[in-house]
Amino acid sequence: MLTHEYSYQTCLDGSVKNAWTVDDCFRGRDFDFTKPFLPDRIAGVSSIGCLDDDQKRLLNQIRGNSYCHIFAFVEEYIVPMVVDHARGDVYGDETRLWTLLRFAEEEVKHQEMLRRAVAQFEAGFGVECGLVPGREAVAEAVLATSPLTALLLTSMIEWFTQLHYVEHVRDRDELDELFRDILRFHWIDESRHARLDTLLIDEVARDLTTDQREQAIDELLELGGAVDGLLAQQAELDLDALQRATGRTYTEPERDEIRTHQRRSYRWTFLVSGLEHPNFLSIVEQLTTSGAKKLAEATTALSA
Ligand SMILES: [Fe+2]
Ligand SMILES: [Fe+2]
Repeated sequence: MLTHEYSYQTCLDGSVKNAWTVDDCFRGRDFDFTKPFLPDRIAGVSSIGCLDDDQKRLLNQIRGNSYCHIFAFVEEYIVPMVVDHARGDVYGDETRLWTLLRFAEEEVKHQEMLRRAVAQFEAGFGVECGLVPGREAVAEAVLATSPLTALLLTSMIEWFTQLHYVEHVRDRDELDELFRDILRFHWIDESRHARLDTLLIDEVARDLTTDQREQAIDELLELGGAVDGLLAQQAELDLDALQRATGRTYTEPERDEIRTHQRRSYRWTFLVSGLEHPNFLSIVEQLTTSGAKKLAEATTALSA
């Protein structure tokens, strides 16, 4: 149904050959708080007029911390989802089974890596930064959708993870080295996971009617709306954290300016960069007739 050149065997080989541990990523290092953590394409601080350079760097670091938290947050459901797909054919293709079990195991490892990053950030930054709650509730909401919807969300996330690292972080020496490594190690696995998502989508979508596939896009966009709500909450928590970190109280017009820039950059980071990713769009175009148009409309609304 989908055109691709991926196979469970090559993903399994890559997983075994490129295996890493959380300690390999951290190597006992701490964050360097004199440096920004994220490229401005993701942090969205450079054009905020009411902040000076130090304050921009602090907001960039707060965004680095929330980036790790939100990733751990939105990926929470992937482990049970992949385990379910593995269990669906437990006496069948052993290569498929082993590959999917490693996929799930790698996601558990990502959770550990991202939570360690958040804990280490908290210890070093010196000011409490609020993080959106409700991880399990979001995972439940995603798993309550159709299997195709949850897989499409996963595919979108795994493609934008790669884009963030390859296009915006890999060559940026000015960013904190440990933070870049966290994104690099994540990318090593996600580059395979995105291919596995395509294989799973192919298996699941085969048995669905055209209407069911179209419906999965509507459900995906509803989930996107829920994610957008979470991002708005996180942006407010970031603003409070910035006030504590800088010791400044921002006026309402200043808060509005920061909020506007941050909302736009959160949306690009966690929604738009996935919804318009060419590999993700290609999957949607092959599965549905009106899906790509709906995604384009959502992208336009989110970029306003
Ligand atoms: Fe992950
Ligand atoms: Fe992944």
